[in-house]
Amino acid sequence: MDNLLQAIKETVNYLHTAGIVKAEAGVILGTGLGDFVKEIAIEKEIPYTDIPHFPISTVEFHSGKLIYGTVSGKKVLVLNGRFHYYEGYTMQQIAYPVRIMQALGIKNLFISNAAGAMNLQWKKGDLMLISDHINLLPANPLIGKNYNELGARFPDMSKTYCPYLRSLIKKIARENDLTLREGVYVAVQGPMLETPAEYRFLNKIGADAVGMSTVPEVIAAIHGGISVAAISVLTDECDPDNLKPINIPEIIEIAAKAEKKLSLIFKKAIELCGKDY
Ligand code: HPA
Repeated sequence: MDNLLQAIKETVNYLHTAGIVKAEAGVILGTGLGDFVKEIAIEKEIPYTDIPHFPISTVEFHSGKLIYGTVSGKKVLVLNGRFHYYEGYTMQQIAYPVRIMQALGIKNLFISNAAGAMNLQWKKGDLMLISDHINLLPANPLIGKNYNELGARFPDMSKTYCPYLRSLIKKIARENDLTLREGVYVAVQGPMLETPAEYRFLNKIGADAVGMSTVPEVIAAIHGGISVAAISVLTDECDPDNLKPINIPEIIEIAAKAEKKLSLIFKKAIELCGKDY
């Protein structure tokens, strides 16, 4: 992508022609977390393959669709299926859909992912609101030429996960009797899971949960002035002294079970964001 601005223009023109003009909130759904789609009054659904300059999702359980519609009376743009670094995409490709959200005027972005729990007080199936992150991916989407039209060369990361959206989400969880943990997410390359020594290391450096996504999109969103909230579904317990072999079907099953809680939180957060509460 030689000229990012030109590419964004072409993608946005295509979306405008398809009737996707403006949206208030964006949502990125993580692996096995597509249930939220049921909450959308869908107006338009476009496979990524049809969208100019969009990368194409390769993970088989990702349906790879851009969905436009209404949730709680607000226009939303939802990415059902995300791009991971371990699939071979560049960081610019992974962040590209966030650039499109920025161009469509989106102000609030809600992200979900599946992650391993290293905080051993917590159980698989719990939800964790991300309070902060540690980026251990070997690159990020801001490397290279900075487009001042999109954001600053040196974006501030002191309040990466919007304090307003976080307190809104915590209130929603409380009012609906949902257990919501809060902690630090560390992003790693994958696709292999961690060794016991790596889990021990990641926990020691301050992370409560580990996953292979989210941080590139968050960095692009912050660069573009979009407020972000992200929730991890904790799908496995990463106890270095008692580590069980990873079971991907089980991870997907646990993610599926936690989805209802996640969908409720996102739906209410979209309804209430921007309001005093
Ligand atoms: N490590 C990395 N990514 C993950 C994990 C994990 O334990 N669980 C779900 N995604």
